[in-house]
Amino acid sequence: MSTADQAIRFDTVSKSFGDGRVLDRVSFDVARGSACCIMGRSGTGKSVTLKLLLGLLKPDEGRIYVNDVEIETLNSAGLVEVRKTMGFLFQYSALFDSLSVAENVAFPLRRHTRMSEAEIADSVRERLAEVGLEGELDKMPLDLSGGMRKRVGLARALALKPSILLVDEPSSGLDPITTREIDKLLMDLKASSKTTMVVVTHNVPSARRIGDQLLVLHKGHILAQGTAEELDQSKDEIVQQFMTLATDEPANASPTRSASAIGRSHKKEVEYGVQG
Ligand SMILES: Nc1ncnc2c1ncn2[C@@H]1O[C@H](COP(=O)(O)OP(=O)(O)OP(=O)(O)O)[C@@H](O)[C@H]1O
Ligand SMILES: [Mg+2]
Repeated sequence: MSTADQAIRFDTVSKSFGDGRVLDRVSFDVARGSACCIMGRSGTGKSVTLKLLLGLLKPDEGRIYVNDVEIETLNSAGLVEVRKTMGFLFQYSALFDSLSVAENVAFPLRRHTRMSEAEIADSVRERLAEVGLEGELDKMPLDLSGGMRKRVGLARALALKPSILLVDEPSSGLDPITTREIDKLLMDLKASSKTTMVVVTHNVPSARRIGDQLLVLHKGHILAQGTAEELDQSKDEIVQQFMTLATDEPANASPTRSASAIGRSHKKEVEYGVQG
C-alpha cells in the first residue's frame, strides 16, 4: 500500500524494558488528517508509543515513519526538525509553573523560531483564543483549574502549528463537561486545520467522539483496530469490556442501562485505573 496518505506508520515495532516486552511487533497507520485514539489498560505501552513516535525512545525492532520519514535514520538535527511538525501534550501536562500562561505558550516559539516579540505576542494570543483562554495571558499555571491547565498545554502544543498532534490522556482528572469541551477543541482543530491526531485515552466516550480509528493495546499487541462501530461488533471479550465503559456519563443519563451494568462499568473504571 502507498504510504503517501499516511502521516504515521508503525511497522512491526517492538519495545522492551529489561525482561518486559511492552510492544510486540505492533503495526498501525494513521491517515493524514485523521484521529487515532489509543486505548488500553494501564501499563500497556500507550505513553511508550507516543514517546517512540517523538523519537524520545528507540524501538528494539521495526520501523516508525512520520510523514514518510523513517525517524531512526535521522540525526539529532533531523529529529528536531521532525519534532517541530509534531505538537505534544504529555500525560501530566507539564507546564512551566514559574512562567505565565503566555510565556508557556511562547516557549516553543522562542526556542524554535526567529519570530519578533510582536509576532510572538500575536501568535500566543491566537493560540490561547483557540482554546478559549484569551483572557488568561498573565495568570500563573498554579492559579488555573485542571481543565484550564490542559488548555494551556494544548495551546503550547499548537504553538508551532504542528501537522501532527500527540495527546496523552487529555481528560484525566477532568470532570465530564470539561472533558467534552477538550474533546470539542480537538475535533474543531481537526476539522479546521486537518491536523493528524494520536490521542491516548482511557475515556471511551471521548474516544468515540474524537477517533476516526480506535486501537486497543493489550499485552503487547493490538487487540482491535477500527472505527467505534467496528469495535462495537467485536466478539472479543476484552474489546467488548472496553467499549461498554462509559466513564463520563452521569449514572442517570442513560435510563436504558441497568443498574448492574452501571455497577459493572464503575468497577471496570476502577480496574482500569482511571488517572487523576
Ligand atoms: N523509560 C522506561 N524505563 C523502563 N520502563 C519503562 C519506561 N517507560 C515505560 N516503561 C514501562 O513500560 C510499560 C508501559 O508504560 P506506559 O507508560 O507506556 O504505560 P501506559 O499504557 O501509558 O499506562 P498508563 O495508562 O498508566 O499511563 C510499563 O510497564 C512501564 O513501567
Ligand atoms: Mg501513559
